[in-house]
Amino acid sequence: MDWKPDRMLSKPIYKQISSYFEEMISKGVYPANEMLPSERTLATQLQVNRSTIKSAYEELEALGIVERVKGSGTKVSSNIWGISHKRIPNWGRYVEDGSFLPNIPMVQKIRTITQEPNIVNLASGELSPHLMPTEAIREIISTQPFSENLGYDHPQGNEELREALASFVHKYRCIKTDSESILITSGAQQAIHLIVECLLKPGDAIAIENPSYSYSLPLFKTAGIRTYLLSVDEQGANPEELISLHKKHRIRMVFLNPSYQNPTGTSLSTVRRERFLALSSELGIPIIEDDPYGITSYSGKMNPALKSLDKDGNVLYISSLSKVVSSGLRIGWVIGPQAVIQRLADAKQQIDFGHSIFPQWVAKTFLNSTYIEEHIKSLRVELSQRRDELDVSLRNFLADKISYHLPEGGIHLWCKLNQRMNENKLIEESIKNGVAFVPGKILGNMEESYVRFTYGREDLGRISEGIYRFSETIKRLEYEYKQTNRK
Ligand SMILES: Cc1ncc(COP(=O)(O)O)c(C=O)c1O
Repeated sequence: MDWKPDRMLSKPIYKQISSYFEEMISKGVYPANEMLPSERTLATQLQVNRSTIKSAYEELEALGIVERVKGSGTKVSSNIWGISHKRIPNWGRYVEDGSFLPNIPMVQKIRTITQEPNIVNLASGELSPHLMPTEAIREIISTQPFSENLGYDHPQGNEELREALASFVHKYRCIKTDSESILITSGAQQAIHLIVECLLKPGDAIAIENPSYSYSLPLFKTAGIRTYLLSVDEQGANPEELISLHKKHRIRMVFLNPSYQNPTGTSLSTVRRERFLALSSELGIPIIEDDPYGITSYSGKMNPALKSLDKDGNVLYISSLSKVVSSGLRIGWVIGPQAVIQRLADAKQQIDFGHSIFPQWVAKTFLNSTYIEEHIKSLRVELSQRRDELDVSLRNFLADKISYHLPEGGIHLWCKLNQRMNENKLIEESIKNGVAFVPGKILGNMEESYVRFTYGREDLGRISEGIYRFSETIKRLEYEYKQTNRK
């Protein structure tokens, strides 16, 4: 509770407390029948005598707002409506009952904690502000005339942006497409959501990588989709496992993040890409290729996009500008057969009436400018330097304690701790030590002792500081385990 009584006011403290609770109860913060804090707890929290709390609760009781239950404490009356003449909804129940699932508490905690500037953020899957082309975009905004229609745009998204994207994916991913086959979405995240909601139904089975991109998992769960796992090694997901999964569960779709995968940083080998495509045709299972990292390849050489090899039209391709330009622009897209694109566009139109014209205009102008090529070149260099700093600091501080595969693109490195550790304890203690990462379990990994370090969000110097803090946490926990085992 942030509120405290104000000792400077002439209103007695017990009255201030009773008024505060009356207000909170009328706002639904404390719903009918909910227990209020005990007199002792509240007295400690508000730093007042217990007798003051007793008087406040007695006042509320006299108003009929609370009831004193012998032996249990003070609870909000079941019948406050009659007294306050207001119907107060039980917001708590609404918050819990909605069909869209909330994030798991650990994700919420990591998301909040990474906002703090003293935390070294090796958790958030985005680029550092220094890696975004802020200057170029400022220049575009201040020098180029904005002459777009300010009404709702085309349900598939701005036509010129779709044309710019068709050239962009052709140049960088060798994908041949046209503006009719593209839908602009609010990031790749919305593209995944639309596909799940429009093309699948509750009870359908899909195959996903293990581990997987964490924010896709609750979307599948909310939609009642059954997920079956394809194991991932240094060559990416194993296509052969799809055969037995399909036999047992009738897989309806395969979701792959084949290039510099989140979280493992691996890239699906070309042989496996071809095998997935062959199986997709043989079994009639569409593939969703989620490719936000493909272009970040540090050397500029990359395995071909599945979509670029797709002769039969089996692949729906998703990507976004989040990991190569800016996550805040919220520009993502889906490329696929026109019937599918129109179905998804119709749903998007019902959900949000299409994407805002401003970020679409910025994105289109940036993609059509001379800045983009230079930007991608320098992004690749900068990301590879960050990857190297992470590699060197892991070897310096944790050499014998971890193993990992070095990514050739993207922003994520997946680490196995050689000793089993409780991931909850590890993240909690690491946060206290000033560093955040993502524990493997959040990413659908069933085994303990994996962590994902993301090196795109922090700048050089901070990454090694983060790994130093992490290594100190590991050493302290190891010491504590040894002490406990000795006893
Ligand atoms: C594999 C993958 N897909 C999709 C997304 C969603 O990104 P956005 O909606 O910002 O494009 C992310 C973000 O981390 C991701 O890693």
